Amino acid sequence: MNTRAAFDERRYTHSVTNTLPQFWARFGGLPDVAGKHVLDFGCARGAMVHTVLEAGAESAAGIDINPDYISFATAKHADQWSGKAQFIYGDIREETLEPADIITSCNVMEHVMALPETLAALVQCAKPGGELFIGFSPLWHSPFGHHRLMETRLPWAHLPRKNRAFLDRLIDDEGNSPESIQELGFNGATPADFRAALKGLPVEIISARRNVATHPLKQLAMKAMLAPSLIPALEKYVTIGIYWHLRRTK
Ligand SMILES: C[S@@+](CC[C@H](N)C(=O)[O-])C[C@H]1O[C@@H](n2cnc3c(N)ncnc32)[C@H](O)[C@@H]1O
Repeated sequence: MNTRAAFDERRYTHSVTNTLPQFWARFGGLPDVAGKHVLDFGCARGAMVHTVLEAGAESAAGIDINPDYISFATAKHADQWSGKAQFIYGDIREETLEPADIITSCNVMEHVMALPETLAALVQCAKPGGELFIGFSPLWHSPFGHHRLMETRLPWAHLPRKNRAFLDRLIDDEGNSPESIQELGFNGATPADFRAALKGLPVEIISARRNVATHPLKQLAMKAMLAPSLIPALEKYVTIGIYWHLRRTK
């Protein structure tokens, strides 16, 4: 196995055994997917599709804008989930997908550039009455919102000088650094931006929670951290993650 393939396998296994169990624990457990059609937005290597099919989903589709991930996911699941799993490379705003009973999305929304339009398109993919589980962290302005792309233990060290503190450390072979965080795949959206994107969409909010942890002590610390968000200007600096459980209304 070459280095790239081995890396993909390791990341896939990490998602199946670590990232996704934690994701579902934050929503109180995997919902009943038996006999349902599930759509995973930002599916990467297909770990969520595999997870829900193992849990009894009738069929599952994953969509992602990275063609390499879709190739990996397709090859990885071709035998085990033949006829049940489908992986789509494309922009959800331009695709017509089978309406889903359940939509999932783990750690994607902080990377989506056309946020309001993409979220609206995602909601349209749910059947009326269908449920959406959308969770994402860490948000850009939170203490380590750079996704550990910067080697520092100092919280918020990436934000000074309009993010140049972060960007200037990423110098390529020709001595250039990126112009913006968007070039690196971060949309930089704040909690207020996410709320605005959700507003007006045909969904009922079953729960909308911030800074959810699975360990009780960590949960206490995460909630305490939200105290400064009573001052609206500080909210974006202390909101690490957002977890929406929604139901499409019409
Ligand atoms: C941090 S990864 C998370 C992958 C996976 N959901 C998981 O939890 O392991 C973010 C993923 O979102 C995808 N992505 C970003 N913007 C997207 C968009 N507009 N449409 C679909 N996928 C997108 C990326 O290509 C990447 O696979």
